Amino acid sequence: RKTFDLVVAANRLPVDKQVDEQGNVEWHRSPGGLVTAMESVMRSNPGAWVGWSGDAGEAPPPFDEEGMHLRPVGLSAEEVRDFYEGFSNDTLWPIYHDVIVPASFHREWWAAYVRVNRRFAEAVAEEAAPGARVWIQDYQLQLAPAFVRQLRPDVRIGWFNHIPFPPVELFAQLPWRSSLLEGLLGADFLGFQRQADARNFVRACRQLLGLRAKGERVALDDGSGRQVRATAIPISVDYRGLESLAQQPEVMARAKEIRESLGNPDVLMLGVDRLDYTKGIRHRLKAYEELLLERHIGPPDVTLVQVATPSRERVEAYRSLREEIEQTVGRINGELGKIGAPAVHYLHHSYPREEMAALFQAADVMLVTPLRDGMNLVAKEYVTCRHDLGGALVLSEFTGAWHELHQAFTCNPHDIEGLKQAMLRAINTPKRDKERIMRALRRRVADHDVQRWARRYLAALDAAPGVPAPDP
Ligand code: G6P
Repeated sequence: RKTFDLVVAANRLPVDKQVDEQGNVEWHRSPGGLVTAMESVMRSNPGAWVGWSGDAGEAPPPFDEEGMHLRPVGLSAEEVRDFYEGFSNDTLWPIYHDVIVPASFHREWWAAYVRVNRRFAEAVAEEAAPGARVWIQDYQLQLAPAFVRQLRPDVRIGWFNHIPFPPVELFAQLPWRSSLLEGLLGADFLGFQRQADARNFVRACRQLLGLRAKGERVALDDGSGRQVRATAIPISVDYRGLESLAQQPEVMARAKEIRESLGNPDVLMLGVDRLDYTKGIRHRLKAYEELLLERHIGPPDVTLVQVATPSRERVEAYRSLREEIEQTVGRINGELGKIGAPAVHYLHHSYPREEMAALFQAADVMLVTPLRDGMNLVAKEYVTCRHDLGGALVLSEFTGAWHELHQAFTCNPHDIEGLKQAMLRAINTPKRDKERIMRALRRRVADHDVQRWARRYLAALDAAPGVPAPDP
């Protein structure tokens, strides 16, 4: 059996299994920023990818795709409910995003989380070559590092958190907080989006486990002498790949066509998000509606396209968010739209990369206004696509991206007045100044692309302290 020197484990495989009405199996690209980023990493670092295929039932057999070895992990219907929708997305997700909606705690969900994490670890242990590098991704797999270590003490284990790591005051609410920390401490190296996230983790180890920590290193008290390093290595996009896609003549022609089909507005504003309560879509719509009501702007000169990709649709908080957003869009259009010129174009779909690149190029103002977001790769994708130096980015200070892209038109999305001002500034700032800002934003992303992120991560994993030599 072939084994691999690099094994990535993420809740999702890069492709999602979908069965159409005739019962035919189709594989589609999985949603979310994690997959986009890791996919391009795996192209330059070939290896195995362990993940769930996105539907309930037994795991399909492993298969190869674009040089990657894909190893599906099966989840039963109950596990999809309890591990994925329940513990991952209705317990951890809200706690890790400032409790924007309340978190639910259920012991059966936790039991499923433990069981599924162990199953992932077993699959990893089978795929990993002796001394391999194992790179576990995100909040769905926080117990996997310790399980992998039990099964395969010979491998190097890294974990990267794509979302925020909460302050200890929020994390401490979790009845299973100690087990989660112990699961993570099975790794050699833990990567986070922001330094604040890494510090939150270290503080949680001190306060909740009573461990000693020095700077970025946590010392285990199990007699092994082992240390675990936790630091920030912010993720990014495949700058060169995406930029060259955005430079394709067909994509540029499509951008023009999009503007034309919207009636060539003076200002096209754009929002692109998974339909998630962390993304601040309600606040954005509120600010936009007020600007229209106060007649600062209005259709047909100004319009907003909001792409809201379907997400986690069986989780109640997502269901009610969708209802609320769709009602709000209906109200704004009913009150403020004109025939042939709605105020908001709302699209509840996902689109292929080419169409996204065209939309980014068509948009004069990109609205990225999350209440909390680990990174937000849409912000980086937008500036990457603006090789014409056009466009303006309105960016929430509560995203990881803002820590790198603070020249953007910054907003606090909770402050509706401030958000409106940021939107107006993004519209009214002279072209020259906007180009200067865009150039700076693009330089930052070009220099810190996803390939550099992966190199830095893997180098840090290789150099992680493990069991340090005793002081002479
Ligand atoms: C975020 C998470 C990913 C997740 C993605 C899509 O980016 O960090 O782990 O895969 O959202 O969410 P979903 O629940 O559809 O996998």
